[in-house]
Amino acid sequence: MSQFWKPGTEKPRLLDDEEGGVLFFAPSFSSSSSRFGYSSIEKQRQRLPVYKYRTAILYLVETHATTIIVGETGSGKTTQIPQYLKEAGWADGGRVIACTQPRRLAVQAVASRVAEEMGVKLGEEVGYTIRFEDVTNTGVTMVKFLTDGVLLREMMDDPLLTKYSVIMVDEAHERSISTDILLGLLKKIQRRRPELRLIISSATIEAKSMSQFFQNSKKHRGIEGEVVGPITEPAILSVEGRGFSVQIHYVEEPVSNYIQSAVSTVLLIHDQERMGDILVFLTGQDDIDAAVKLLSEEVQNRGRNSSGLIVLPLYSGLPRAEQDLVFTPTARGKRKVVISTNIAETSLTLEGVVYVVDSGFSKQRFYNPISDIENLVVAPISKASARQRAGRAGRVRPGKCYRLYTEEYFNNEMSAEGIPEIQRSNLVSCVIQLKALGIDNILGFDWPASPSPEAMVRALEVLYSLGVLDDDAKLTSPTGFQVAEIPLDPMISKMILSSSHLGCTEEIITIAAVLSIQSIWASGWGAQKELDEAKLRFAAAEGDHVTFLNVYKGFLQSSKLSQWCHKNYVNYHAMKKVIEIREQLRRTAQRLGIVLKSCETDMLVVRKAITAGFFANACRLEAFSHNGKYKTIRGSQEVHIHPSSVLFRVNPKWVIYYSLVSTDRQYMRNVISIEPSWLREAAPHFYHQQRPNPMLH
Ligand code: CDP
Ligand code: MG
Repeated sequence: MSQFWKPGTEKPRLLDDEEGGVLFFAPSFSSSSSRFGYSSIEKQRQRLPVYKYRTAILYLVETHATTIIVGETGSGKTTQIPQYLKEAGWADGGRVIACTQPRRLAVQAVASRVAEEMGVKLGEEVGYTIRFEDVTNTGVTMVKFLTDGVLLREMMDDPLLTKYSVIMVDEAHERSISTDILLGLLKKIQRRRPELRLIISSATIEAKSMSQFFQNSKKHRGIEGEVVGPITEPAILSVEGRGFSVQIHYVEEPVSNYIQSAVSTVLLIHDQERMGDILVFLTGQDDIDAAVKLLSEEVQNRGRNSSGLIVLPLYSGLPRAEQDLVFTPTARGKRKVVISTNIAETSLTLEGVVYVVDSGFSKQRFYNPISDIENLVVAPISKASARQRAGRAGRVRPGKCYRLYTEEYFNNEMSAEGIPEIQRSNLVSCVIQLKALGIDNILGFDWPASPSPEAMVRALEVLYSLGVLDDDAKLTSPTGFQVAEIPLDPMISKMILSSSHLGCTEEIITIAAVLSIQSIWASGWGAQKELDEAKLRFAAAEGDHVTFLNVYKGFLQSSKLSQWCHKNYVNYHAMKKVIEIREQLRRTAQRLGIVLKSCETDMLVVRKAITAGFFANACRLEAFSHNGKYKTIRGSQEVHIHPSSVLFRVNPKWVIYYSLVSTDRQYMRNVISIEPSWLREAAPHFYHQQRPNPMLH
């Protein structure tokens, strides 16, 4: 491997090293397989690094309002601490211990692991809640895992989160937008509920700045003015792992195609290195599927014994059975290759990984308030992430990490830390959530990291145009409150509300359900031509949203569902999810008093309802454009229809998109054609009164 790779000089570091890099990890303790009996599980638990700190953790939580716990991935924070708390009585008397995660897949995985460790059925003493899926039992569930977004939603019904005795905000280093909002709100709640305990836990965090953030909490005073309740200064505890060192290798020359390089590196490792699983970090479903396919082909072409190499993808939205395969221990004589998004960076621990291949990229959300465009971009990771990724190789024994970038690039060009999501996102959802919780002065809100005022103004403007906020920037009644009530992006919620007046709610909730999952197409099968042909069978001239309705209708009418899906290149699991989400949206709509009506074949009203929610995403085809160049009406940005859309190459003059992805160009995904007059009808302030827009005339 020496012509291609050179060993790095980065030394393994211990926790709290000045640069914050950590390359020591706890050894592995077998797997989650249920063939282990109770006592064996107990032994495994005791061998985890956090176990030594059990008493210290319980003492700190007892005496401090906030405890910050920093510990390497795999040291047992997520699975053990909630159990310690339960054992110490924090869930007695009907109280609940909450543990939040930024990612849904992690919520499910850790909840089922903890249920197994505790020997209980998932959904009873241990449960979880993610959007559209509640696996808890009120009055029975003592330990509840949930996404930080779901906990925020719970605050709408119970602003002080009174049922929880301890809230553990886990993976705080990820700084997801919901984590940041949650931290700000929890700080407020603490002042009203001295008995509430917070645990902020993460793999790497600037514990000091987090501690300062919680420092300011006011002391609780008794009648005589004496200080009562827990110590308000946060406690900081760092859990030391006992890991193995990881040798870093860099490429000598920058690589041009990281998918291809990742695949060849995996093959090199398989050829030349001892047994041990390989974890590859790519960015998203598309490149992961491409790499899985390429790797499987290579293995076959080279006539290798393909049974030796088990190639598995890992990303959110993966069906449950495929997720489970990733966690299954590798059989003797086999080598598992897991090709993952950054979900395996800190949220999930995979046992048996000895080699890591790091592309140096991840998919990140970026928002530009000037053009008002938010999209998912494949962007370079930070040094902190690179170290986390490398660390995944050192759990079982000394490991190796192959970085698909040069050492020079790592040293001189990679940024030290990532930017918190709140500073690179569109804030529409964030603003409406805070408004719904009665936080009026959003700019003055106590943020762990402040969002930009420009992004805030943009969000307020959109919400005003959606009719969700009034002139005083307060939620309108009933629209504003109703939109806030629906657990979806405000633009989708507004689309649903408008469908009620237009008489097409049945159709619109189907569309909303489809838009809220990644894709209903079976794109991972690698047969692009067949997939395109299958799409044509459902393609509607109006665009993708109406095409979804055709697929949904076809699915409902078929008698053999999974066969039908297979034949039509539709993802069966995704369709089942659509049906489930649709059912929940139906119930939400009914609760809001929306009359569920179908417009049958009148697709005009469906398009109008979409426009009512998504007018801000309108685009016009450039005059005389032969290459399908569109400009956004709002920011005059150049965009194109994504090749996966049924309107690709059809290029209607006026369209509205659902989301943008950026690769070599800005591509619109899920596109529908509209009439320009509907825009002024749907959002007069946005397109007419406030700012006369010459493009509309
Ligand atoms: O949260 P942290 O990264 O500190 O560790 P954890 O998620 O609590 O994991 C502790 C141990 O539980 C790891 O060694 C994993 O092997 C094991 N685990 C597992 O086997 N299956 C899961 N779904 C989750 C954790
Ligand atoms: Mg964890």
